[in-house]
Amino acid sequence: MNALLPGQPTDESTNPMIASSEPPPAVEVLSAEKVFSNGTRGLAPISLNIAEGEFLTLIGPSGCGKSTLLKLIANLIEPSDGRLLWWRGDFTQVGREGRRFAFVFQEPTLMPWARVDANVRLPLELANVSAAAAAPVVADAIERVGLSAFTRHYPRQLSGGMKMRVSIARALATNPNLLLMDEPFGALDEFTRNKLDADLVRLWWERKLTNVFVTHSIYEAVFLSTRIIVMAANPGRIFRTMTIDQPQPRDEGFRDSPKFAAYCRELSTWLAEASLPSATGGTS
Ligand SMILES: Nc1ncnc2c1ncn2[C@@H]1O[C@H](COP(=O)(O)OP(=O)(O)O)[C@@H](O)[C@H]1O
Ligand SMILES: [Mg+2]
Repeated sequence: MNALLPGQPTDESTNPMIASSEPPPAVEVLSAEKVFSNGTRGLAPISLNIAEGEFLTLIGPSGCGKSTLLKLIANLIEPSDGRLLWWRGDFTQVGREGRRFAFVFQEPTLMPWARVDANVRLPLELANVSAAAAAPVVADAIERVGLSAFTRHYPRQLSGGMKMRVSIARALATNPNLLLMDEPFGALDEFTRNKLDADLVRLWWERKLTNVFVTHSIYEAVFLSTRIIVMAANPGRIFRTMTIDQPQPRDEGFRDSPKFAAYCRELSTWLAEASLPSATGGTS
């Protein structure tokens, strides 16, 4: 098994003695390619290891395959060629203790007729968890996203940012360790987004989550991520990777630092390069 991360060859990862003592990668994408039934080549073969505890962000121009790659990782779609492994096994590994994942979409997708606690309880009900066993889990998830005072509210009584928090609480209620998020804060104003980002980084750190996150925002990517993958289109592929080597968990001080600005500048340059026609294979 190739333990190398793209663009990050290290002595450790080529030394089998050291590599064997490391936890298995949460996800391995092994030359996975996606051609849709209409012939569109969504993704060229992609190889990527996602380590336990990473906060990995996918960024790139529209149509470069970010959502497709996330859906492959979530096993919502299958690769046309190549394969994926979860914890070194097939998809049956997912669902075992400590090997669960949850998906958060751009829309909060709440049930409008149900109160906040009922929305958060839904995945537990679907898993036949009793109401008594679910209650403390639901209360904890709601508290972690700062909505304890709104437990009995309906979605229509909440702001966009609060609805997104409910959606995150619902994901946390399943106690996932791999959290997949597709532009979850894309529809929110910048102030709300910054606040949710700060809370998400804290949650990721406290819960020792592995996160795969999609965004269009350079600032959000740099603030949140341990590693950023810049993708290019036609066909979708990995263009560059950037490691953000900064202490965790990050706080607002990082946002104000010269290093933050330097990372953002470099990422912005790479994104511009990834969006050039010459970077996109020039077809379709
Ligand atoms: N179900 C589908 N059928 C056909 N083409 C698709 C489908 N989903 C995505 N695509 C195409 O695959 C490419 C990548 O899409 P997507 O992963 O949604 O990009 P992104 O999330 O980066 O904007 C695009 O060209 C898109 O039009
Ligand atoms: Mg998308």
